[in-house]
Amino acid sequence: MAEARAPGKAILFGEHAVVYGHPAVAVAIKAGVQVAVSVNKEWAVEGRPLDPTRHPHLKSIISRMPRESGTYSFQISSTLFSAAGQGSSAALSVAAHLALRKQIGEISSTIDAAKSAHLAEADAQSGRASPTDTATSALGGCIVVSSSLPPIAKHVFSAELKTSEGLRKWDVGTVDLQDDSNPPSLVLGFTGNSSKTGKMVAMVADLISSNPEKKHDLDSIGEITEVGLIALASSQWEAVGMAMNACHDRLVSLNLSTPHLERLIESVRPHSFGAKLTGAGGGGCMMALTKEPARVAQMIELCGAKAMISPLHNKGAQILG
Ligand code: MEV
Repeated sequence: MAEARAPGKAILFGEHAVVYGHPAVAVAIKAGVQVAVSVNKEWAVEGRPLDPTRHPHLKSIISRMPRESGTYSFQISSTLFSAAGQGSSAALSVAAHLALRKQIGEISSTIDAAKSAHLAEADAQSGRASPTDTATSALGGCIVVSSSLPPIAKHVFSAELKTSEGLRKWDVGTVDLQDDSNPPSLVLGFTGNSSKTGKMVAMVADLISSNPEKKHDLDSIGEITEVGLIALASSQWEAVGMAMNACHDRLVSLNLSTPHLERLIESVRPHSFGAKLTGAGGGGCMMALTKEPARVAQMIELCGAKAMISPLHNKGAQILG
């Protein structure tokens, strides 16, 4: 048996715009997905034959396994909310890749895991997926993804994808966050309404093609992200929060928020540096950056959502055995 674990992610700035090459900044969160694989007479998940329509990410990861490497059964456990904007499918893909490669005695880097998992996300999102979720889950820490990385980021790898809107290219880099003796925490609030990333990304693509002026919101998210990243790297939390709020306004203009997300965000802002929807939107999660995590979590629960507190600094994917 081989086992691997990969964390979920929270996007501080840049979701959706990153699909079009603008920068995005994401951090790994504490919760994640653990995958164990063991030899089996057929591909299976939790003791049942693998159904590719229920597990498109696993099917895609398996398609890149070397020929004649056998068939395996997956046992999956997760502390993430599912289809909630926390990168659960990216974490599943990264952990499944690492566990399978370990099982067949192959050494795979977290960069290889990020690349294979990105292709799995793209397969599942009708060809439109940035490497943000998968790179953050694989590498951990703070990740920047952009068609052209800002100087503050250290380049780690490049990724490209053929989409119906043309060839997209991204560079993936890491940013060192300063040691802060009392850093703020992230609090995520899950509305309970799951949301499909592929559907939301397609909705934005349709919106832009029917209302080309909406592209301005994506350009604006790109500009805010650049400023927010500089604030983040120098621990200027008020400025980070302002950039989060400004990104959220553009995501609202792109019809990605919901009344429940708005209620949650409004209720936590007085106790946070900033709060916004995170991930694909249309349901899923909001996030707040705050020094009062218990209070913010309580406000979220009072508004009928599920709260999760995470430190700002978290490790990437790991092979467990
Ligand atoms: C989803 O977590 C982030 C999106 O920007 C999609 C992507 O980057 O592939 C909405």
